[in-house]
Amino acid sequence: MPTDSPVVHPAQEEIVSGLSREPPMIPPKYFYDSHGSMLFERITRLPEYYPTRTERSIMGTHGRDMAQRIPAESTVIELGAGNCEKAHELCSLIRPACYVPIDISADFLHDAAQALRDAHPTLDVRPVVADLAADIDLDGEVPAERRLVFYPGSSIGNFEPDDAAGLLSRSRRLLDGDGAMLVGVDLVKEESVLHAAYNDAENVTAAFNLNALAHLNRLIGSNFDLREWRHHAFFNHARSRIEMHLEALVDTTVAWMGGERRFRRGERIHTENSYKYGIEDFAGLLDRAGFSSIVCWTDPRRWFAVFLAHA
Ligand code: AVJ
Repeated sequence: MPTDSPVVHPAQEEIVSGLSREPPMIPPKYFYDSHGSMLFERITRLPEYYPTRTERSIMGTHGRDMAQRIPAESTVIELGAGNCEKAHELCSLIRPACYVPIDISADFLHDAAQALRDAHPTLDVRPVVADLAADIDLDGEVPAERRLVFYPGSSIGNFEPDDAAGLLSRSRRLLDGDGAMLVGVDLVKEESVLHAAYNDAENVTAAFNLNALAHLNRLIGSNFDLREWRHHAFFNHARSRIEMHLEALVDTTVAWMGGERRFRRGERIHTENSYKYGIEDFAGLLDRAGFSSIVCWTDPRRWFAVFLAHA
């Protein structure tokens, strides 16, 4: 290969192929540059965005019950750990010996890991930067016994159900016979509640969605003009998922290093699916992935569920 050929980062190929598709799409992981991670944190505090606080209430009410079923001195592997905020609560519940936060956003992760070390000086914190869609490689130093894979926040909802089953299987393969998985799942509910959670009055979700374009501009050198796009989110009943899209407000051409695409006014880029499950359906996915002894806790309105499943 000639030494002067441009280095194409794998992310660039993935993004350009998504933008070139019919219909075009951007994988939701590109929401999470540091600004996007900050916007997501704001979303979790919005009055309309019930998942984070409902999950927290379930952990508050049933945490001791959960903890009794999880071995002491465990190694917690948190998928998509973000700001590691949930680790603080989990650590006071189950007192793990080792904590392995995994996230795609490297800078954000390392800052959060340091904050966690400061707050829990005896906890062995070992951040790993990885994309959960690929095989998860824990560099050999992570203890193999008493692992708990923790996947809170219903982030699993971003995956197609088949891919979610795949991620659950890969998680199970990280576990020995004494391991378990604790996973938070958003449930199907009244449409108006779902709709409001992704169309908040302060437009934080809109800013979060649009920020993916600013992130892409840096990653692939594109010239998306954010003023030419609007946030669009709705509940797709047939597929039981919230869909987020960015809709072109005008006819426009977007160029990037080595390519371009024309978008018609009204054309949409699909940026996210957020699947909403029934309790039985999700238990079925865990079962398909080979888990057993599946237990689940929910809130009184049954808006959210936390599942514990054994390897
Ligand atoms: C982090 C994937 C769980 O689907 O609710 C929040 C992301 N998108 N508002 C979700 C999100 C728009 C969130 N997850």
